[in-house]
Amino acid sequence: MTTPHRAINPPPRLPTSDWRMSFRSPLLTSIPHHRQARPAIRSLLSTARLLSSSQLHTPKMSVPNVKLNDGTSMPIIGFGTGTAHFGRECSDMVLEALKNGYRYLDTAQQYRNAGSVGEAIKRWGGKREDVYILTKFGADGAKPEDIEPRKVLQDQLKLLGVDYVDLCESPLIRFPARPEELVLTSRGDLVHNPFYTGNLTLAENWKIMEQLKSEGLCKSIGVSNYREEDLLAIKDTWKVPPAVNQIEFNPYNFHADNMLRLLKLCKDHDIKIECYGPLNSLFRSTNGPVDSVVEEIARQKGATPAQVLIRWAADYTGGVVVTTSRDSGRQKEQLEAVSKVTPLSEQQVQAIAEAGKGRFYRHFQHGVWNPAKP
Ligand SMILES: NC(=O)c1ccc[n+]([C@@H]2O[C@H](COP(=O)([O-])OP(=O)(O)OC[C@H]3O[C@@H](n4cnc5c(N)ncnc54)[C@H](OP(=O)(O)O)[C@@H]3O)[C@@H](O)[C@H]2O)c1
Repeated sequence: MTTPHRAINPPPRLPTSDWRMSFRSPLLTSIPHHRQARPAIRSLLSTARLLSSSQLHTPKMSVPNVKLNDGTSMPIIGFGTGTAHFGRECSDMVLEALKNGYRYLDTAQQYRNAGSVGEAIKRWGGKREDVYILTKFGADGAKPEDIEPRKVLQDQLKLLGVDYVDLCESPLIRFPARPEELVLTSRGDLVHNPFYTGNLTLAENWKIMEQLKSEGLCKSIGVSNYREEDLLAIKDTWKVPPAVNQIEFNPYNFHADNMLRLLKLCKDHDIKIECYGPLNSLFRSTNGPVDSVVEEIARQKGATPAQVLIRWAADYTGGVVVTTSRDSGRQKEQLEAVSKVTPLSEQQVQAIAEAGKGRFYRHFQHGVWNPAKP
């Protein structure tokens, strides 16, 4: 199979903050007669300016954006606050991610830590429009009235301390639960831990999403863990197609039949894939057939295996990647995967895809995923 999408927008120009635009050196104007000293002073001042800007909120790394079907753009890599941070206070880690250059934060009602994300954004001190915030509806164990989309979004906005989110996602939600969705161990099944919203059909739920967008509470709307049949269930009545579908995506699960069908449907409607769990083959399903291929490509590109896997998910889908780390060094490594490491060649993308077909592994499925053991 050929790679479905490859187009990636060029990196955006970094915003220049006002204080740097208006910066004038009092030193330079106060010593007009010491012309010979000027170059050295200029150099010192320039270093000082660079240091100050990196300590404020200017991204150290330029992360490319991906264009969505509604005309907006989002950063190609996001910092996830689920998994390793699920249900935990994580403002220090999110702040570290922002300082390192992450500009897309991925949260959800289910993660129960949007307040930490809001606190980190406040402490970071950057402009609202300089950070891309994504949240999702749904929480297992919640009552239908607690997961009504409008109420959830308003609660999330309060916790995040913002008056809109950039992207709001509706996870696969259905109530009452269909019995077959409670047994989710079959090969290729995309759903994990189904969430329930009430007596809404998927189409009715999507209509509310469209209203929330039109009211400006979220700039874009998308879905998460939707299978082909779920997208088909909203397709006939959508006025706005989902901008993204956030799904588990790694070399060991992309090749299931229902995944290939889903990828095609998303491509047909320009619904970008948001890949979570991109590092599964590195530390959750180890010693597998992609390892040697990934290592060889990493050697060729002077990159790490984690960077190659992040690149692979982005390059194969033409979408975005959601990863995470509690370690500052690893956060930088992840960012460099898209800011320094160049896209894989078509041959490299296909070599990993072919090797990945030698194993099937999905981490996020009912009965496998355990928040206590991210
Ligand atoms: N929509 C959904 O249903 C859904 C489901 C799952 C996840 N997500 C989102 O996607 C995000 C990322 O998911 P994920 O955690 O599965 O992503 P992942 O990128 O596959 O895994 C991240 C984990 O890999 C470890 N790691 C990072 N760099 C590494 C390296 N170089 N070598 C070995 N291990 C490394 C990190 O551990 P350290 O912290 O120790 O570095 C981190 O816990 C979540 O936080 C969440 O926002 C969404």
